[in-house]
Amino acid sequence: MRVRIDNVTKTFGHTTAVSNFSAELEDGHLICLLGPSGCGKSTLLNMLCGIIPVTQGQIFFDDKNVTKLPPDQRNIGMVFQNYALYPHMTVAENIAFPLEVLKVKKDERKARVEEIAKLVHVDNLLRRYPSELSGGQQQRVAIARAMVKKPQLLLMDEPLSNLDARLRLEMREEIRRIQKETGVTTVFVTHDQEEAMSISDSILLMKDGLLIQSGLCQELYVNPNCLFVAEFLGNPPANKLPASVVECEQSERIETTATTVAIRPEAFTLDPNGIEAEIQFISEMGKDQIVTMTYLGNTVRAILNLEDSALATGSKIKVSLKKKGVFTFDKEGRRLS
Ligand SMILES: Nc1ncnc2c1ncn2[C@@H]1O[C@H](COP(=O)(O)OP(=O)(O)O)[C@@H](O)[C@H]1O
Ligand SMILES: [Mg+2]
Repeated sequence: MRVRIDNVTKTFGHTTAVSNFSAELEDGHLICLLGPSGCGKSTLLNMLCGIIPVTQGQIFFDDKNVTKLPPDQRNIGMVFQNYALYPHMTVAENIAFPLEVLKVKKDERKARVEEIAKLVHVDNLLRRYPSELSGGQQQRVAIARAMVKKPQLLLMDEPLSNLDARLRLEMREEIRRIQKETGVTTVFVTHDQEEAMSISDSILLMKDGLLIQSGLCQELYVNPNCLFVAEFLGNPPANKLPASVVECEQSERIETTATTVAIRPEAFTLDPNGIEAEIQFISEMGKDQIVTMTYLGNTVRAILNLEDSALATGSKIKVSLKKKGVFTFDKEGRRLS
């Protein structure tokens, strides 16, 4: 199912949580709603499912205007950070619960529970209680419960935040697999850019209730429309330098109106004719190194392949900038080049 969000605003008293938000979510996509804590992600998600009424604007599922429909008439599956399983029910009963509410017959209920439990890989846990499950298993059950009624839209609000780093990686791949196998349009909320980049087809990047940029993950990374996007995506993050400093050395590339230059760590390259930089710290990253160094009087992080193992803190290297991954911005943070 396609979703169209048309100029949606939500205010709580004097707080504008979501402001004039418009976006189209493509059928079958996994879309990440990404942005710092407090930017309005959960509010927007809850307006999609109908728990929070919109202050202004409209929401369409395919061509149907659902703005005023209550949650139970929107056929949506929800997964939350804290799993929210019923502790006194077994896994099977938890998963079956939405079907009971819909008064689905017992035989069909059982078949559907078994089918979805297999898909989500909890079919061996059906008789257990939530307290007998690990965090990752609980979240699988929560996903099964959200999917059992074959929702036309799956909404997930920071579903992996309570899991440890290793389980988080595993569950990312699992959510991706389940989403691909079912083809259900999914909105996944996260504040973690790495998670968003690794899991989604496309990203809606928010700040202060506003949609700042939307597009495929790589589009946002390669072509950020403002300084906020350039800085928010990428790890280590892009280095931010005053344009005046970089201008002296790279004059032909920096526009005179630019105030800030953002340089991605991978945009640095070793170059005997480059600018001298002094190494402060080296950390290993697979075959490359993350080199923290003083460059034009600023501390920056570069991803380099040093090769020379004698290089250490205090060593001098020469670097220049590649074409890709260097962006300039005006004083309002708007992209110039
Ligand atoms: N029920 C509410 N009453 C008042 N303010 C709220 C309410 N819910 C959210 N907000 C405010 O709206 C903004 C967005 O919140 P939220 O959507 O939860 O952000 P996020 O999920 O991105 O962390 C925040 O400033 C938050 O304090
Ligand atoms: Mg939230």
